[in-house]
Amino acid sequence: MKISVIGCGYLGTVHAACMTELGHNVVGIDVDPEKIALLAPGTPPFYEPGLPEMLSRAMTTGRLRFSTEISNVRGSDVHFVAVGTPQLAGSDAADVSFVMAAVASLLPYLAPGNLVVGKSTVPVGTAGQLADIVTAHGSGATLAWNPEFLREGFAVKDTLAPDRLVYGLEESDGRGAAMLDAVYARAIAIGTPKVVTNFATAELVKVAANAFLATKISFINAMAEVAEATGADVTQLADAIGHDVRIGRRFLNAGLGFGGGCLPKDIRGFMARAKELGVDQALTFLAEVDQINNRRRERMVDLAREVVGGSLLGKRIAVLGLAFKPDSDDVRDSPALDVALRLVESGATVIATDPQAVATARRRYPDMTYVATPNEAAKDADAVLLLTEWHEYRELDPLAFGELVGTKAILDGRNCLDPVAWRSAGWTYRALGRP
Ligand code: UDX
Repeated sequence: MKISVIGCGYLGTVHAACMTELGHNVVGIDVDPEKIALLAPGTPPFYEPGLPEMLSRAMTTGRLRFSTEISNVRGSDVHFVAVGTPQLAGSDAADVSFVMAAVASLLPYLAPGNLVVGKSTVPVGTAGQLADIVTAHGSGATLAWNPEFLREGFAVKDTLAPDRLVYGLEESDGRGAAMLDAVYARAIAIGTPKVVTNFATAELVKVAANAFLATKISFINAMAEVAEATGADVTQLADAIGHDVRIGRRFLNAGLGFGGGCLPKDIRGFMARAKELGVDQALTFLAEVDQINNRRRERMVDLAREVVGGSLLGKRIAVLGLAFKPDSDDVRDSPALDVALRLVESGATVIATDPQAVATARRRYPDMTYVATPNEAAKDADAVLLLTEWHEYRELDPLAFGELVGTKAILDGRNCLDPVAWRSAGWTYRALGRP
């Protein structure tokens, strides 16, 4: 099929590359000329495992192009809208202006039988409005809502072999459903479950899924708070309750909590939309989920203060990890970067490192000190804070690493180190939710 993808961020770029891999003919559009200048020869503008290889494969097929010029969508059968919906400044609500603008920019190029497919995460009700706009324009195109559930770090796998496909369609739009089936033929052939529903349900599936995941993480972090007051170990507690298949062990890792470009802003946007709909009481618990999450960051800074003797002023702190999670260079609402900045505000000298996210962090906060490796960060440190559980940090040798620091004190913000190994190498080991 001929496909256009509007918006070449984490979602759109991966989607465009994967659609090409599936055999389609794809054009990716973005308003940012710098991004397109990188993408045009096949260089991803961000870090995502597996994407560079897939993009270069896709470029060699001659079936993938990138452009800033929207008129290049002319002739495509399916137009995916994959632009961002960031949190509005000074509000919890999501900013849908980029989605609105993307659909408006498509209108002049739509032809009869075309399908506009929303993938962005939007407040419930947006798809209906957009469908009206597309219909009123009179091109004969229709609109579908097809939320995306990809996780950074696993974006390629999640796009090619998703857990499920969700199609939000107008009741009579059998043609739209058939076109989406053709787009996703390979996923359907391997038995991927499919839910065909109305617009509102499709929009809600996405925010409900993210709200559930955020709640699960904050639940275990709330247990960590209780564990800290009682001498219990939250990691063992998570293992024990996780054996119950109704609960499950995944997404029960206590630590610094959730961040990134989705979970935090999606739960806030969901609450804001519920308020507009007069059902805010249904989601007041999400405010608590958000607060538990933010309290973990404060707790980490308090622990650091405690470990260095009561004041962070002038203390040298090594920060390992800046990305919001491993295998990503994304620092949007990153708990790790947030803690690093709070330490700086408290007067500490922070030496920060991350295998991939130094450049993205530096772009936002050029004044912090960044180094390339954990060994450089650790030199003469009064304490080491592990804030993102990169594989290479999990594998650090406590004996050799102990030779570098000024004081052997480590705070494990992700509960990913072995306390016994670190303590027996002479370290003071502290973690969130563990004795
Ligand atoms: C999330 C959803 O998982 C995905 O389905 C959706 O499409 C976009 O939002 P992503 O933002 O890539 O994906 O990250 P995810 O893997 O969900 O992790 C979110 C945050 O939660 C990270 O900061 C991670 O460190 C944290 N987390 C995750 C925990 O603190 N504990 C856990 O047990 C799991």
